[in-house]
Amino acid sequence: MGSTNISYNYNNAMARMVGKDGIAETELSGLQKRALAIHKDLQKKREEKIIGFFDLPYDNLLVQAIMAIANDIKRNFENFVVIGIGGSSLGPACLQRALNHSFHNFLSSQGRRGRPRMFFLDNPDPDSVKGLMEALDLRTTGFNVISKSGGTAETLAIFMHIYNVVQRRFSKTALSKHFIVTTNPDRGYLREVAVADKLKTLPIPENVGGRFSVFSPVGLLPAAVAGINIKNLLSGAAEMDQKCSKPEIMSNPAYLNAAIHYLADTKKGKRISVMMPYSDALKDVAFWYRQLWAESLGKKMEKGKTVKHIGQTPVAALGAVDQHSQIQLYMDGPNDKIVTFLCTKKFRKECKVPRVFSSIEALDHLANQDLGTLLSNEYLATEYALTQNGRPNVSFTMEEINDFNMGALLYLFEVQTAFAAGLYKVNAFDQPGVEQGKNATHTLMGRKSKEDRARMKQFKAYIKERKKYKCL
Ligand code: PA5
Repeated sequence: MGSTNISYNYNNAMARMVGKDGIAETELSGLQKRALAIHKDLQKKREEKIIGFFDLPYDNLLVQAIMAIANDIKRNFENFVVIGIGGSSLGPACLQRALNHSFHNFLSSQGRRGRPRMFFLDNPDPDSVKGLMEALDLRTTGFNVISKSGGTAETLAIFMHIYNVVQRRFSKTALSKHFIVTTNPDRGYLREVAVADKLKTLPIPENVGGRFSVFSPVGLLPAAVAGINIKNLLSGAAEMDQKCSKPEIMSNPAYLNAAIHYLADTKKGKRISVMMPYSDALKDVAFWYRQLWAESLGKKMEKGKTVKHIGQTPVAALGAVDQHSQIQLYMDGPNDKIVTFLCTKKFRKECKVPRVFSSIEALDHLANQDLGTLLSNEYLATEYALTQNGRPNVSFTMEEINDFNMGALLYLFEVQTAFAAGLYKVNAFDQPGVEQGKNATHTLMGRKSKEDRARMKQFKAYIKERKKYKCL
C-alpha cells in the first residue's frame, strides 16, 4: 500500500524572505482564534452532513459500484466522452491529464491497455460537438452526461443533440447502452430522462457542490474508465484529510495556505492568486483550482447600505511556457500577486538531451542532462528570481505525480477553500452569480416562465442601449 508524498514550502510568502510584501509570523498567529471558530463550524457542518465533500474519500461501496460500471465501459467502448461543464468537467479532466499518458488518445488499444480514449465536451460550441461526433465511431463510443442540477443549458443541449444522433443511428433501446448519467439522486430533468429511458445513473450527493465533486462519481467514474486507480486516489485524499484535521493554523497545511492567501490579499494587496505548475501533467490542476477559488470566494457581501466585493482573482499559468509570456509582468509589473508553484521531483519519462552539436560550446551545459532537470531548474530559477524581487510565492512539490498524491493535493485545496471562505466570511458553497447567468441563458433561448418574461423585457431595453457606441 503506497502513501502520499507532497511537501509544502511557504518560506517565500513570509516577510523574512520577501520583505514588506510578505507575511509576518505574528499575522498568522493573529488569526488563530478565528481559525478555531472556523474549524469548529466546519467540523459541525461535516458531522451534520451539511458539507459533504469532506467524507467523499470514505465511500467504499460506491467505489466498488463505480469500478464495476467502469469495467463494463472498458469492455464495450473504444471512446468515452464526458459531457459536463464547470465543476462537472474540470475535476475529471484534471485527473485524466495528470495521471494518464500525455498522449493517451493517440496510443493503440494495446498501448492504452484496453482503456477507452477520453474526450471532454464542456463548451456548447457546434464546431467541437459536431466535430467530435464526426471523428468518433459511434458504435464504440460511450457517453457520461454529468450535471448536478440536471438543468444546465450547455450540458443539456449537447446531451440532447447526441441523444438524438444515437437514437436515430441505432434505436431507442441503444440509449441505455451508450449513456450513463451522473446527477442529483432525486430530481432534475436529467434524472427524469434517465428514469424514462432506463439509463444507468450515478448520484452526486445533495450536499456536494460541483466544484467540490471531484471525489464523487463526477470525478471517479471517468477516472476509473481511464484506468486511474481510484482507491489510491481516495486513500491519498483520506490521508490529506488526516493531515488537515488540526485546528492550529501552523500545523494544518490547508489552513496555513488559506491564511497566507487571505493575508496576502487583504493586508498586502495581492489581489491575484497565480497557480503555476511546472509540469504539463499538472496543467489542468491550475484550471480546476481557478474555478474552486473563484466561484467559492468571489462573493458580494451586503450589510445595510454597504456592499463589499470579496475574492482573490485566480490565474492559471504554466511553467516554463509562461516564463516566455507572463513572468515579465509577475517580476516587474504590479506587486499584486501571490504565486503557487506545483512541481514534481520525478517525471514519468526520462528524456535525455544528447551532445549532438559538439562544435557549439555554448550549448555544452545542456548536453547529457534530462529535460525534466531543465524544467525543474527553471522552476527553481523563477522561484528564486521572484523571491529576490519581493514577490511572494509558495510551492507544493510531489515526489512523483501519482494517484495518491493527486488525491491528496486536490483534497488539500478543497479544505483550503472551505477554510478561506470562513476567513473571508463568505459562503463557499453557493454561486448566486452563476445561477443568474444560467437563468439569463434560458431566458434568451426562449424559456417562457413569468421571471423569464420580466427578464426578457429588461434584455430588450439593454439591447437598445448597447447599440449606441460602435466603431466597426
Ligand atoms: O461548482 C459549481 O457548482 C458549478 O461550476 C457547476 O458545477 C456548473 O455550473 C455545472 O452545474 P451542473 O453540474 O448543475 O450542470
